[in-house]
Amino acid sequence: MSKNNKLKILSICGSPRKGNSEAILNRLKQLFKKNGVENEIILLREKNVQRCKGCVEYCNRNLKCCQKDDVAEIMKKMLKADGYVFALPNYFAMPPGLFKDFIDKCSIFYTAQTDLSSKKVAVISVGTDLTNIKENVRNIAENFCRTLKMRVVATGAFVSRSELKGNYNDIFENKLNPNIEKKIENIAITLQKSIKQP
Ligand SMILES: Cc1cc2nc3c(=O)[nH]c(=O)nc-3n(C[C@H](O)[C@H](O)[C@H](O)COP(=O)(O)O)c2cc1C
Repeated sequence: MSKNNKLKILSICGSPRKGNSEAILNRLKQLFKKNGVENEIILLREKNVQRCKGCVEYCNRNLKCCQKDDVAEIMKKMLKADGYVFALPNYFAMPPGLFKDFIDKCSIFYTAQTDLSSKKVAVISVGTDLTNIKENVRNIAENFCRTLKMRVVATGAFVSRSELKGNYNDIFENKLNPNIEKKIENIAITLQKSIKQP
């Protein structure tokens, strides 16, 4: 919780483009604001996220990455936040490489045995095929979040159209997701409530 006693939620967008994942995070931000929750959206596409080189001798000893990029700053923000929203497209039932690069850099949390067990998470994925998206959500929830002991309390899988033709609000208008507004609102409420409950 921040100094002013407000819940703090960090949203991380794993899409390499301005698209549906980002549109959902923007909608969530409006809801969080209405509910008095502090929310920052990190667009990984605008950040310098270097790929892990696997030089574990360095990070095992120093508990930090040998590369200078923006991930250390994002990880600091993660420590200060009460919860996270990870929004990512589905690429072959996996997150895009950009988000995977971010995940790999988070291995410092694992090496340093950082306690993230109080952090609550919502995982949201979008893609053109519903089954596949659900698999992506499950993979992230089960592998990334479980490994770092973050608790996934809400998930969402939404069907998108790949070509947005400049309409970044398409996910809310494509009629492929009945009740999307309500589902997004429920994700916000569930995440907030679970943060308040220890
Ligand atoms: C390289 C690549 C692979 C993709 N693979 C899948 C897939 O396996 N299943 C699926 O449903 N959609 C797939 N898609 C479609 C994206 O998930 C979809 O365009 C989504 O809206 C992208 O998210 P964004 O709008 O937030 O960028 C793929 C798109 C790309 C570019």
